[in-house]
Amino acid sequence: MTEACKQKGARITGIGHYIPEKILTNADFEKIVDTSNEWILTRTGIRERHITADDQFSSDMAYEASLIALADAGVDPKDLDMIIVATVTPDMPLPSTGCLLQEMLGAKNASAFDISAACSGFIYGLSVGSSMVQSGKAKKVLVIGVETLTSITDYTDRTTCVLFGDGCGAVVLEEGEPGEGVLSTFMRSDGGEKELLYITSGGAKTPLTTEGIEAGDHFIRMKGDGLFKYAVKAMVDAARRTLKEAGFGVEDVNYLIPHQANIRIIEGVRKRLKLEKEQVVVNIDRVGNTSSASIPIAFSELKQGGTLKKGDLVIMVAFGGGLTWGAALIKY
Ligand code: ACO
Repeated sequence: MTEACKQKGARITGIGHYIPEKILTNADFEKIVDTSNEWILTRTGIRERHITADDQFSSDMAYEASLIALADAGVDPKDLDMIIVATVTPDMPLPSTGCLLQEMLGAKNASAFDISAACSGFIYGLSVGSSMVQSGKAKKVLVIGVETLTSITDYTDRTTCVLFGDGCGAVVLEEGEPGEGVLSTFMRSDGGEKELLYITSGGAKTPLTTEGIEAGDHFIRMKGDGLFKYAVKAMVDAARRTLKEAGFGVEDVNYLIPHQANIRIIEGVRKRLKLEKEQVVVNIDRVGNTSSASIPIAFSELKQGGTLKKGDLVIMVAFGGGLTWGAALIKY
């Protein structure tokens, strides 16, 4: 065991997810923009994605997923010390979705805040949350990845609208023995590549105006090919570093949970890490790219599937706008 694993452990004691009911299929997109099921499926691996109801937002999905994760852990919301919500689609700029969720859950004894790291948000949240537990500053932490990406998606832009879906995943972290739970994490950013994925307006520098809304300045814009080239290399590097820090190699890994942005990126990462197809959790065909929610949703589905065993090593690896990327190694 390396030094990094000798401190207190941060066990994952509860997992849950929520995916909204309404489905948009590739056939639906054929009626909205100039695209085809064949293009979307072969270029991305996506068949369908789920979208929120008109009166449903990130806090609502976070609430549903949290209830499942808390019940799974047997933790009363009042016993939570901290709530971390990773999202780029908060209900509103202020208060944070973390604080909105705290009130909904009645988690009166918790601090609550949001993390903005795009598709890497859950890994960033897990890293912060597990560090708080490992250092003894918190005993029970709820970490959420949630996105209402449909609220920032331009349904006239075929290069982005076919990709994104809504959803939420949640985990409960609790104090454990050294060497169990979250074994190591890695986070990295490159603001120099910010123009690969961005939203121009809505902040203090460029407030949203009526003209801005008409021009679609509140929607996400992406240079997909630039992201693609960067993603595989960064994700593989993050996975290797995270494994090495905990004293493990790729051969020890039972499951890889990659961010679900594109099946070709997932395949590229799998091949470079020399993992078998059965070891990789893939749900992009059913949920699309749900940004920060993608890894915890896939993790929750893996657990639901019944194959995840106590002691399995799970490497999670993410990449997203910012740029941001990172990985987390879990001993379940
Ligand atoms: N239907 C049909 N044609 C399309 C569509 C569509 N939905 N979208 C783009 N095209 C066209 C393009 O206009 C282009 O046409 P042209 O050759 O006439 O100019 C052609 O298809 C090829 O476009 P590319 O962008 O080169 O296609 P590519 O194979 O790169 O696939 C994709 C695009 C799927 C976006 C890919 O680049 C990708 O997945 N990139 C990574 C995305 C990612 O990792 N995002 C980060 C996380 S997201 C986050 O942080 C919220």
